Amino acid sequence: MRKKIVAGNWKMNLDYNEGLALFSEIINMVKDEATGTQEAVICSPFIHIHSLVQLAKGYNKVAVGAQNAHQEEKGAYTGEISAKMIKSTGAAYVILGHSERRQYFGETNALLAKKTDTALKNDLRPIFCIGETLQEREANTHFDVIKTQLVEGIFHLDADQFAKLVIAYEPVWAIGTGVTATSAQAQEIHEFIRKEIAAKYGQEVADATTILYGGSCNPTNAAELFAQPDIDGGLIGGASLKSRDFTDIVKTFN
Ligand code: PGA
Repeated sequence: MRKKIVAGNWKMNLDYNEGLALFSEIINMVKDEATGTQEAVICSPFIHIHSLVQLAKGYNKVAVGAQNAHQEEKGAYTGEISAKMIKSTGAAYVILGHSERRQYFGETNALLAKKTDTALKNDLRPIFCIGETLQEREANTHFDVIKTQLVEGIFHLDADQFAKLVIAYEPVWAIGTGVTATSAQAQEIHEFIRKEIAAKYGQEVADATTILYGGSCNPTNAAELFAQPDIDGGLIGGASLKSRDFTDIVKTFN
């Protein structure tokens, strides 16, 4: 059965001490509970990662990830962080293709394909984000947009590499807006994504792929979203900055 994951995306929030304090609270709240979520992941700013990995030692249901990594292995890219550096801290995951990276940093599907290759080569698990804008949904092109993101971003991988990915469907119009996709809207897209994976890699790979929903997911709506057959957890932005909200979402699977 595929893994149930709830991942927090702190984005560019929390200074070093605030991040460590929040993470400690989260660990304390999830550590002893029998939780159906098989892994709670925090994707923090780079400056926190090493310390969070140290704090997470001994808790096998808690993992740490980055929010971005460079496509090249190393070199003269002032200010950038490589996948190898992230891996060397003990982090397990990296978010790639978040809509904010696509929108504000011009990340294209072609660039994201390279970032995915480099992350996998360095043994990081990408949480690969896809999703349509409001305009694309209103123009009824959302299925095409998502298919193109899959084909150009990750369908060049072989099946073994693909099996290491987590996919996150995040409708751009639902991110940080308080407008969540309805569970039916989200399920419709998740089912579509799984069918596309099955057509490319076979049903077994598709059934084993964790597909997260992201976009204004909170403790109130998580249960209904996560109850959908093709939704395997969430990628949580705003609500991951509050320990109670985040852990309530993590415990939704109980
Ligand atoms: P949100 O963000 O939960 O604040 O909508 C989700 C995300 O951007 O991953």
